[in-house]
Amino acid sequence: MNNTKACIFDAYGTLFDVNAACRELSLDVGDKWQDLANLWRLRQLEYTWLRNSMKEYVDFWEITSSALDYAMEVLNIENKKLKKQLLELYLKLEAYPEVKKVLGKLKDKKYKTGILSNGSIKMLDSAVKNAKIENLLDEVISVEECKIYKPSSDVYDLVEKKTDIKKDNVTFFSSNAWDMHAAANYGFKTIWVNRFDGTLERLPGKPSAIVKSLNNIDELI
Ligand code: LAC
Repeated sequence: MNNTKACIFDAYGTLFDVNAACRELSLDVGDKWQDLANLWRLRQLEYTWLRNSMKEYVDFWEITSSALDYAMEVLNIENKKLKKQLLELYLKLEAYPEVKKVLGKLKDKKYKTGILSNGSIKMLDSAVKNAKIENLLDEVISVEECKIYKPSSDVYDLVEKKTDIKKDNVTFFSSNAWDMHAAANYGFKTIWVNRFDGTLERLPGKPSAIVKSLNNIDELI
């Protein structure tokens, strides 16, 4: 039986292409652009988990900037102008090509739609506007409301707080396996958008489906 009333999406890597900033500036970054993109993303996530443990919340913009600083130093890329440009592009990350169409299909089928993300409100609003999907989303929920990062259950609790929809009625989509595991363990039905050919983590929580992109997810809910 389909219990889903709300389709909730992770933002970075799921709706928005986290490699887009480095790829766009690949001529300036040089052939290390993919290494920079990977290390930047890895440290960005690790800093959220470490700061959760340390109870030292700062917003995702500050984390994103610190992670980029670290990654540039490790890769010996010393260029203040480039750092500023990369961060500016992070506010306008491209959405994956199928995102707009699929959100439109979900709205036609009368599902509530939303984002649940580590991103700050400023970052999410900017990416959503840039992708021109603001009319296709009922909620854009940021961890700024609870000041702790995923995978804390306080974050997943925000969905019911903001939408009045119980977790049994939520399908959650993430390309980040750890986020999917945590959301499934929390009680959402989850679909892993395995865009990067990843492997299931050895963590609690299982996806109810695994897909390569968001195309046709409306048929899986
Ligand atoms: C987010 C990160 C985890 O959007 O991708 O929450």
